[in-house]
Amino acid sequence: MRRKLVVGNWKLNGSLAANAALLDSLLREQGSWTCDAAVCAPYPYLAQLNERLIGSTLNWGAQDCSAHESGAYTGEVSAAMVAEFGCRYVIVGHSERRAMHGESDQIVADKAKRALAHGLTPIVCVGETLAEREAGVTDEIVKRQISAVIHTLAHCISQIVVAYEPVWAIGTGRTASPDEAQAVHHVLRAKLHAATERADAMQILYGGSVKADNAATLFAQADIDGGLIGGAALKAADFVAICRAAG
Ligand code: 13P
Repeated sequence: MRRKLVVGNWKLNGSLAANAALLDSLLREQGSWTCDAAVCAPYPYLAQLNERLIGSTLNWGAQDCSAHESGAYTGEVSAAMVAEFGCRYVIVGHSERRAMHGESDQIVADKAKRALAHGLTPIVCVGETLAEREAGVTDEIVKRQISAVIHTLAHCISQIVVAYEPVWAIGTGRTASPDEAQAVHHVLRAKLHAATERADAMQILYGGSVKADNAATLFAQADIDGGLIGGAALKAADFVAICRAAG
């Protein structure tokens, strides 16, 4: 039986004061769900998460890490640095980074490898654009994206979390239907099965306009093991409701 995991991706949002208020509310409610839960904040706030969440049931993480270990890469933050702040997770390959920062499948795979090397669990995002879905190539796209990671991580592939985030569902209010999402999760799990005996134990999250009112039906699908939550992770009541929907 896989445990459900709900991860908040705060994206480019937050302030010390706003984070403190949000975290305090989450900490007050942490006993009201049993799933695994985590929040991923912008880098400058990782120290705040480390300080506030240590000893709680909430985990935390970053939204990206460098594909490089160290060196002359101005503006980059390494997996080793992220790990120093108690992070358990790091998101890699979010579609916003693939689209706006030109991250290739191989760069995403290299980032996942760096993360694992520093004891972090990479949450590897995959997903098709609207044009790709309409062209009927969704399965092909997500298989290509996950294959690069499988190839690069080899036997370590079972240590990652996968997040299926259809680009057309992110921040649009348009969610993949539970059936649509399940179909892609099934494709992803089959691909993982071909690479590792542990595919059945791996968590595959769905992301894209998950809200308190659609979370339960999405999470009830056979291969959906939780969610990667954007907008709804910024309001404590919404995030708590989604965690409760996961169990
Ligand atoms: P929304 O929940 O705002 O659609 O964002 C999803 C997402 O991109 C999480 O990584």
